[in-house]
Amino acid sequence: MSNVKNEYLECTVGDDGIAIININQVNEPANLYHFNFVNAYADVADKLIADEGVSGVIVTSTRRMFMAGGDLRMLGAPIPDTKVFFDGMMVIHRRMRAIETSGKPFVAAINGTALGGGMELCLTCHHRIAINSPKVKLGFPESKVGLLPGGGGTAKAAYLMGMQTGLMYLLQGTEARPPKALKDGLIDDIADSPEELIAKAKKWIAENPNPVMPWDNKKHRIPGGGIWSPNGVQTMMGAVGNISKMTHGNYPAQRYILQVVHDGMQVPIDRALEIEARYFTKIVQAPEAKNMIRTGFMGMQAAKKGKARPKDEPKYEVKKLGILGAGMMGAGIAYVSAKAGMEVVLKDVTMEGAQKGKSYSNMLLEKAIAKKRSTPEKATALLSKITPTDDPNAMEGCDLVIEAVFEDPNLKDKVTKQTESVLAADKVYASNTSTIPITLLAKSSARPENFIGIHFFSPVDKMPLVEIIVGEKTESKAIAAAVDYTIAIGKIPIVVNDSRGFFTSRCFGTFVNEGMFLLQEGVPAAMIENIAKQKGMPVGPLAVHDEVSLTLSMHVFESNPDEKTPDQIKSYEMIKDLVANGRKGKKYGAGFYDYPEGGKKKLWKELGAKYNSNIDALDKETVAKRIMHMQALESYRCLDEGVLNSVIDGDIGSVLGWGFPIYTGGAISYIDYVGIQQFVADCDDFTTKYGQRWAVPDSLRALAEAGKSIHAFGKNKAEKLQEA
Ligand SMILES: NC(=O)c1ccc[n+]([C@@H]2O[C@H](COP(=O)([O-])OP(=O)(O)OC[C@H]3O[C@@H](n4cnc5c(N)ncnc54)[C@H](O)[C@@H]3O)[C@@H](O)[C@H]2O)c1
Repeated sequence: MSNVKNEYLECTVGDDGIAIININQVNEPANLYHFNFVNAYADVADKLIADEGVSGVIVTSTRRMFMAGGDLRMLGAPIPDTKVFFDGMMVIHRRMRAIETSGKPFVAAINGTALGGGMELCLTCHHRIAINSPKVKLGFPESKVGLLPGGGGTAKAAYLMGMQTGLMYLLQGTEARPPKALKDGLIDDIADSPEELIAKAKKWIAENPNPVMPWDNKKHRIPGGGIWSPNGVQTMMGAVGNISKMTHGNYPAQRYILQVVHDGMQVPIDRALEIEARYFTKIVQAPEAKNMIRTGFMGMQAAKKGKARPKDEPKYEVKKLGILGAGMMGAGIAYVSAKAGMEVVLKDVTMEGAQKGKSYSNMLLEKAIAKKRSTPEKATALLSKITPTDDPNAMEGCDLVIEAVFEDPNLKDKVTKQTESVLAADKVYASNTSTIPITLLAKSSARPENFIGIHFFSPVDKMPLVEIIVGEKTESKAIAAAVDYTIAIGKIPIVVNDSRGFFTSRCFGTFVNEGMFLLQEGVPAAMIENIAKQKGMPVGPLAVHDEVSLTLSMHVFESNPDEKTPDQIKSYEMIKDLVANGRKGKKYGAGFYDYPEGGKKKLWKELGAKYNSNIDALDKETVAKRIMHMQALESYRCLDEGVLNSVIDGDIGSVLGWGFPIYTGGAISYIDYVGIQQFVADCDDFTTKYGQRWAVPDSLRALAEAGKSIHAFGKNKAEKLQEA
């Protein structure tokens, strides 16, 4: 066979009779698993199989990654014809099976990360060798975007790794480094260099001229036993329990994976692949998968690439960062920034306070070293980048200053003025305030055009979101600087406009408040907490309020000079009463919950009597709707008012900012998820029963009446006014 080169791969046959297929999808950002590629690959494979002069085939890649996975752009889009899609999947399976049963050895020489479809392509090769690099990841992350491995991975994983480990890879989307993948049976060998990788592959071909796949080999023993072995039965039963606990039935992919493994392991592989294809065709059309791909993959990728930055602004590089306040937030910001290679000046009132802030990095690094995620050398290098100080003049020469002092407007006014006296006029100054409007804080600044909000979440080293807040006078250079800085420290930015509480704190607050209102109306606390978790919130509204602390909520209310709504007053009165009873929140050992030392938190016993709790106060469905709809409605208001610039920003912000469940697509897409007309009807009903906080904005009603999706949202109020 003559050599081949096309837009997907290059294939050369060596003098030794061994063909090497180099996957190189020149028109794609990375090698991807999709219909066109697989067919092009199978065309070449067919020819190599038919060629008697070819003794075996090595499949590798010219790209840094072997293959990134399925093409989520295609899988995230609507599937125009279900039958055509299913038939296409079956064609792929048949063509890959022709390779597996050809009797000619195919070896995957995995030179870089192989995930999802990429790993599944390797499973159609008779032997898998991966290069032993810490940068290489192997596994099936499909369930993380709401899908199941549909290229044969679901049907085959247990044959290689056993029921328990196989299911773990499939259900949790495990991505393993080569040594672990070898130990688990996902691959057969590892190599230390590219040369050794090819040499080992050639040797295996020479020694195994007529290989058979484990699933075609009657003598193959599944590690730990098959589906009807005691171990297999126990694993399946355990998995059913774990999944319902983990997903509360909100994520169908996990359920389908279990079903495919359960049914597929009892029938021959060709039938198992057909079962897998049926479930894959189903899951790929599920709203949960579309939502997870759109928000969790497409949206976050675009945000990470700086979608929100003003295009014409040059890149803003932060070499030296100043931080005012070395408390909880300042200390965390110092760590993530030094980790990204920036010089950090960390300032507090006293040297001792600043040192304490730096020691936070030390503590995180010690943990990372213990877990082998860092080394003492790297830790020393990182720490040497953080300079603690008590001198305000040390902010001189910084490219960006982030203020994270107490939430006190007068103090913030003082430090802004102090800093601007030494900070170069063209540099950017940001506040990490969580509640005070940026436009208000910018009044302290002589250069409001360079003043912006950079709102981190706690704990800074773990939370991936940064909410960037544009004040009335903030100019595009400052926005570009904030976005560039956020991306440089590896976090995901959303850019929002100014409002009290911005987007995240404002909408998160409605979750907490609705929980309190339900309690006050007699819904038992345990019911509120459990229903919120069943709907996919990471913690209930009462538990999360304890974590934030009730005293902080009081402070936020009291320091807000705006006129208060009756609902705000109602929630404040309730908090004030609890605080007066010594129930201040988690860090004080008592809030809605009791926090016994060394024990698990328990709901405060008196809550039931205090609020006349009654299991029949409200039905479960209404409680669920009030908890979830309220967050969505407030998020929509932010869009309508122009606090948010787009649906996707609200979706990303809600998922990453306060843990709104991603199967819904995020707090705004949630409206489509429940159905926009149903949503509006529910809110109308609630307006009658519970008051004006449920009033639906006109633009939302118009979308519902027109039967449109929330993604058809056009212009916000300010834009419409401008046009008029
Ligand atoms: N804690 C959170 O979860 C969170 C989240 C997002 C934003 N924020 C905001 O971040 C800011 C800081 O919050 P925190 O939780 O880190 O508070 P904190 O109380 O832990 O730390 C504040 C620090 O500022 C220092 N400070 C006071 N005056 C100073 C001055 N003149 N110069 C330098 N340092 C000074 C204090 O000594 C203290 O160490 C607040 O505006 C808060 O609203 C907090």
